[in-house]
Amino acid sequence: MLEKLQQYYSTAKTLLQNTANLADLESFYREHLAPSGKATNWKREIGKVPVEERRAFGQAVNEVTSELLAAFETRRDLLKLKDIAETIAAQATDVTLPGRPLRVGGFHPSTLAVREVSGVFQRMGFMPFESAHVELDRNNFEYLNMPPDHPARDMQDTFYFSEDILLRTHTSSGQIHAMRRFAPEPLRIVLPGLCYRHENITPRSEIQFHQVEGLLIGPNVRMSDLKGVLLQFARQMFGPNQQIRVRGSYFPFTEPSVEVDIRCTLCSGEGCRVCKHTGWLELLGAGMVHPAVLRFGGYDPEKVRGIAFGLGIERLILLRHGIDDIRYIFQNDLRFLRQFGE
Ligand code: DAH
Repeated sequence: MLEKLQQYYSTAKTLLQNTANLADLESFYREHLAPSGKATNWKREIGKVPVEERRAFGQAVNEVTSELLAAFETRRDLLKLKDIAETIAAQATDVTLPGRPLRVGGFHPSTLAVREVSGVFQRMGFMPFESAHVELDRNNFEYLNMPPDHPARDMQDTFYFSEDILLRTHTSSGQIHAMRRFAPEPLRIVLPGLCYRHENITPRSEIQFHQVEGLLIGPNVRMSDLKGVLLQFARQMFGPNQQIRVRGSYFPFTEPSVEVDIRCTLCSGEGCRVCKHTGWLELLGAGMVHPAVLRFGGYDPEKVRGIAFGLGIERLILLRHGIDDIRYIFQNDLRFLRQFGE
């Protein structure tokens, strides 16, 4: 019996040493050390041993059980540490891995184009002038010679906050602010910024867009100055051989009013799909400032005259890059925006 007990003890110890993880150890416990496990069962054998050997055998059983329990606890501590070490190793950060590059943000294509266009005029001496996007009806319309019910208001569908307050539909509203600030001094300003119109969003129209506007007022300002400034602008933007064409048009705030075209940048005037086979692309609206507007601005139309022009920035981006849908510009799809760099 004693021999068998010793045999059991040595196999049980080997099994214990062979447990690889806490789950193995748990089943070892259930099989050997739990209340009806193999080690515990040896206690039942004590009664079956002849009386004279019983005391020694009983002692041996107790020793085996307690040694096995002690060995079990040692093993458990060891496996727990191993388990923790493995978890840590699995979660470890490999500090030798190369880092992910940080993407530096860039400017929006409209911002870049606004800056480029105003830059051209600033180098011709036009001073930047900004004014609020939320405007009074009179600055956006009335003082630009569009009284209430003027039919030209229909050309610019408007977001109204109330009867008097609106989102500016063009940068021309800034003309009034500048004139009232500086009259009767001569003025040479460029007015960049966002404008808003209550439009359906289509490939050709958005509810927000940027304009860059110019205004020059002085004693001897003439239509030929307008043509000179705009020809210079077209050449700065589209190349030294660029040509412009001036056509009669209508805006309430200018008289005479014109529209200015450039030679088609895609076909150089040969005629193509983009210029609808005319060889020309419409660039901007312009004219001599209407005397009524000068007067609203605080100038004496007998003493000074003005030229003004206004240009849509997103239209310019579409023209330049042969893009056929303005909606790309405000959709904020980074795949599109990143192509403009910087
Ligand atoms: N404000 C006009 C528009 O939004 C553009 C424009 C035309 C501005 C002629 C001007 C101008 O200053 O003289 O359509």
